[in-house]
Amino acid sequence: MKLNQFEKKLVQHPIRFWIQNHIEAPLLTSMMPKPMANIEQALEIGCGFGNGIQLIRHHFGADSITAVDLDPDMVQAAKVRWKTENANKGLYFSVADATRLPFENAHFDAVFNFAVFHHVPDWQQAIREVVRILKPDGYFVVEDLYRAAICNPISRRLFEHPQQNRFNHGEFLAELREAGMLIICERNILGLGGMILAQKTLRLGGASY
Ligand SMILES: C[S@@+](CC[C@H](N)C(=O)[O-])C[C@H]1O[C@@H](n2cnc3c(N)ncnc32)[C@H](O)[C@@H]1O
Repeated sequence: MKLNQFEKKLVQHPIRFWIQNHIEAPLLTSMMPKPMANIEQALEIGCGFGNGIQLIRHHFGADSITAVDLDPDMVQAAKVRWKTENANKGLYFSVADATRLPFENAHFDAVFNFAVFHHVPDWQQAIREVVRILKPDGYFVVEDLYRAAICNPISRRLFEHPQQNRFNHGEFLAELREAGMLIICERNILGLGGMILAQKTLRLGGASY
């Protein structure tokens, strides 16, 4: 689901960028095993205005980053931003839905979801897509908002989020495990949101991509 105008303004506000760069990124990287595995191919789902690209590049050291978003305006804005900064080498953009990712199986070393899956009506299918396109042992880095944060009168008034089939921390973890991911590290933030590092495992008898 695309963002409404208010949320578009909010996610591109310099304060949001500052929080992502100075608080969220260090917390997320602290969850990664050390030394951090080399990430050759990274995918960011729901790239918005493209700030996540900076995090993935500078904090996670990815060589090549593919950034997708459901909203063509977002993809265009991110593209222009990085071209203007003359730093678009190794960046690839495309319009795509998290539930139908146009990539082959086992292609990425890491997939990033920065506050996106709470916008996706069928988030369980989006998780299955992440597992499909990850290489074995690949990482899924998640920072997202839960039911309590978006299914309340204040949030409903300000934003547009799907209200059915939302999830909490435990439900998101359970779905990841069900899809064949190993939870390496997780943080539940007051029941409102969370950070998760999961790794694709090859289960005997399970789907293998
Ligand atoms: C809250 S914004 C977060 C943007 C960016 N990741 C950030 O942290 O600033 C959510 C983004 O997810 C995108 N989005 C929503 N549903 C999507 C879907 N099904 N597939 C891909 N992107 C989606 C929206 O267009 C929006 O850019």
